[in-house]
Amino acid sequence: MLKIKVPATSANLGPGYDSFGLALNLFNEYIFNLDDSKSELSVQIINDNNLNLHLKDEDNLILNTVKYLDDLYPDKIKTSNLEIKALLNYPINRGLGSSANAIIGTVVGLNKLFDLNLTSDEILKAALHLEGHPDNIVPTLSGGFTISKVENETILYEKFTISNDFKILLLIPDFAIKTIDARQVLNNHIEINHASQNIANASLLSAGLIQGDLSLIKKGSHDYIHQSKRLSINKKLEKLFTGLKDKLSCPYFLSGSGSTIIFISNKEFSQEKEIINKTADKYEIVNYLIETKVNNKGIIIKEDGD
Ligand code: HSE
Repeated sequence: MLKIKVPATSANLGPGYDSFGLALNLFNEYIFNLDDSKSELSVQIINDNNLNLHLKDEDNLILNTVKYLDDLYPDKIKTSNLEIKALLNYPINRGLGSSANAIIGTVVGLNKLFDLNLTSDEILKAALHLEGHPDNIVPTLSGGFTISKVENETILYEKFTISNDFKILLLIPDFAIKTIDARQVLNNHIEINHASQNIANASLLSAGLIQGDLSLIKKGSHDYIHQSKRLSINKKLEKLFTGLKDKLSCPYFLSGSGSTIIFISNKEFSQEKEIINKTADKYEIVNYLIETKVNNKGIIIKEDGD
């Protein structure tokens, strides 16, 4: 048996669209087993309510990843006795990297189980093929704060270890936003002054994360190119996001393409939680709050006996 713990991630962090990602101490688990009494591939997904989650085959990224790798390495991979069980600890389609989580978890699992000997760069390349953008898959594998981009179908990235003093709060609404829909609302044209503001803000924000300086993160937290368009998909979420602006001193962002909002602070979130709950009530957003930290280690592999 092989068990893989895979961290949730928050992509974009405001101005770092399709480039910034942060790994969190919140994990989904994937258990791989070869059971010779079985004659076909079995994929079981247990959701965060401990219920069996049934996804259409085309939406099941574990299945799609197995098929993709099986086509690439037919001599090495045998799926007829393969059992995969995914234990999800947070809901899908909430902007916490659940797609990248399933893809990276499956690529790393099959790599280990069938001795594919893929390097980290090869794992990322396979995952990129299935995910389409690099910002969640990189921190999912490596942990930390990552800056990534794609050139010639290859991911170029840098990982930074982030201070453990930062505290993270996630407001996870009870409604989903599909990334595919949230990408369709974006314009292909960006005004030049918005592009230059985003460059300045992304630079300030990354310096703040790397130096452990919350005031720099806050200075660079505003995004000019994607966030407001995503928020306009759900009017209640938009009102909550803008309604918190004058009430909170800590920086916050739409996590990935939403619907989660991620808050970063260097002190406990006590007052903030009250304010967030009251504002969410005002705009009738049912949600749950999770407090966590940055994960600097990335994926964890445990084999039988570990
Ligand atoms: N960078 C991606 C987006 C993250 O914003 O669409 C979502 O997976």
